[in-house]
Amino acid sequence: MSDLPKIIQGGMGVAISNWRLAQAVSREGQLGVVSGTALDQVLARRLEDGDPGGHMRRAIDAFPFRAMAERVWNAYFIPGGKAPDRPYTRLPAHGKVCPRPLAEVGIVGNFVEVWLARQGHSNPVGINYLEKIQTPHLVAIYGAMLAGVGFVLMGAGIPLKIPAVLDAYVNHQPASYPLYVVGAQEGDDVIMHFTPRDVIEGDPGPLGRPRFLPIVASNTLAVTMLKKANGKVDGFIIEGPTAGGHNAPPRGKLTLNDLGEPIYGDRDVVDLGKLRDLGAPFWLAGGHGAPGALRHALDEGAAGVQVGTAFAYTEESGLRPDYKQAVLDQVVAGEARVFTDPVASPSGFPFKVVQLPGTVSDEAVYLARPRICDLGYLREAYRAPDGTIDFRCSSEPVSIYVSKGGHEEDTVGRKCICNALVATAGAPQTRAGGRIVEAGIATSGDALPGISRFMRPGSTRYTAADVIRVLLSGD
Ligand SMILES: Cc1cc2nc3c(=O)[nH]c(=O)nc-3n(C[C@H](O)[C@H](O)[C@H](O)COP(=O)(O)O)c2cc1C
Repeated sequence: MSDLPKIIQGGMGVAISNWRLAQAVSREGQLGVVSGTALDQVLARRLEDGDPGGHMRRAIDAFPFRAMAERVWNAYFIPGGKAPDRPYTRLPAHGKVCPRPLAEVGIVGNFVEVWLARQGHSNPVGINYLEKIQTPHLVAIYGAMLAGVGFVLMGAGIPLKIPAVLDAYVNHQPASYPLYVVGAQEGDDVIMHFTPRDVIEGDPGPLGRPRFLPIVASNTLAVTMLKKANGKVDGFIIEGPTAGGHNAPPRGKLTLNDLGEPIYGDRDVVDLGKLRDLGAPFWLAGGHGAPGALRHALDEGAAGVQVGTAFAYTEESGLRPDYKQAVLDQVVAGEARVFTDPVASPSGFPFKVVQLPGTVSDEAVYLARPRICDLGYLREAYRAPDGTIDFRCSSEPVSIYVSKGGHEEDTVGRKCICNALVATAGAPQTRAGGRIVEAGIATSGDALPGISRFMRPGSTRYTAADVIRVLLSGD
């Protein structure tokens, strides 16, 4: 691979861009990116499913700290997999302080995903995190760096304090990260800490410093990152509002179209000329998964494009097969539809939802689900009246959310996308002795209808290599 990739396969959580997909993309000489979201949960559930194929075991065998590796394996592995009506184990909740067992499954989970993605080729692999999901950052990044991750990409927030974390871990030095706490007061201790020496076994050598690419939606944020980040920013992903997953909200006052989707305007358009003047490499994301799009991006001075939706439906992606096939069939039938939901995600960011019967996009499925918050990645930290830090989520039971000072109106239409996204990766939580199984939620960009261009003749299927071939064909 030349120094910088022309195509970045965007990170897609939870476990849609899994190690298999990222490996396939990096093998082709482009940049494969694993999703770093909830990898503690993902690893635990794969082990509780009996580790089909033995891939987790293979990666865990390569983990440098042997006692930790075996503790994680022993805590979750169930030979032959758990009974279908048995729930997955509930992991300890994330908080300002990460409990040791959670830190261990987080470190090993991130290691495993990156390590597997790096097998069979010598090209770099990246990992993607959402800044908004702050509590796992410190352990997650350490695990990914132990596996030699080449790029860290981070969106959904302003990750000013990440570069120093990357720098510190090169020599296993302690790192810290400020937790955003609603209502925090001067003097409150909001800093999270992680000290690698507390978990290290033996004497590991120095780690490579991954390149850091924040994902931003405006010139202002790009400038802020370059001026105010606490270390090196190696480039940007410039993501527009047509991209799959979460989108940055429109600038200014939120207005909705007739369908109820946010309206974006001129102020949301990034000025590529000004961006070029910053001198850092950048990749364009959002609707660039078509032949000719790469050439256009290069002509605009970009280093390339980041593409998500096209890769989400490849053979290799972690999207569960029934949803994948159902959406591919919708695409072929000309019936695929994506709704930019301004309220679905407790993160507060607009979230693109594929309209797919049987998933949470289906009003009946959404309404039938009791509000339960037991994964908690998108919970927000707030200052409780006694000065301690507590957590709340606008998709948890309304009375609980309100009792924590949340506003009732903020709960309307909120979906537990933590449980739904883990279900979409094929590991739905089971409740009430198997009578309740969490439904998933599929997200894609506005360009979803166009993915038929990647399908093989006579088939709806295609691979990551097909996508790359088509995207490079217009170059
Ligand atoms: C299924 C799916 C999940 C996504 N999840 C994430 C994510 O976890 N983090 C992130 O930064 N971007 C996420 N994205 C955005 C992609 O990384 C990428 O920037 C975007 O899909 C590019 O636009 P496109 O969908 O038009 O190709 C997701 C996109 C899709 C389709």
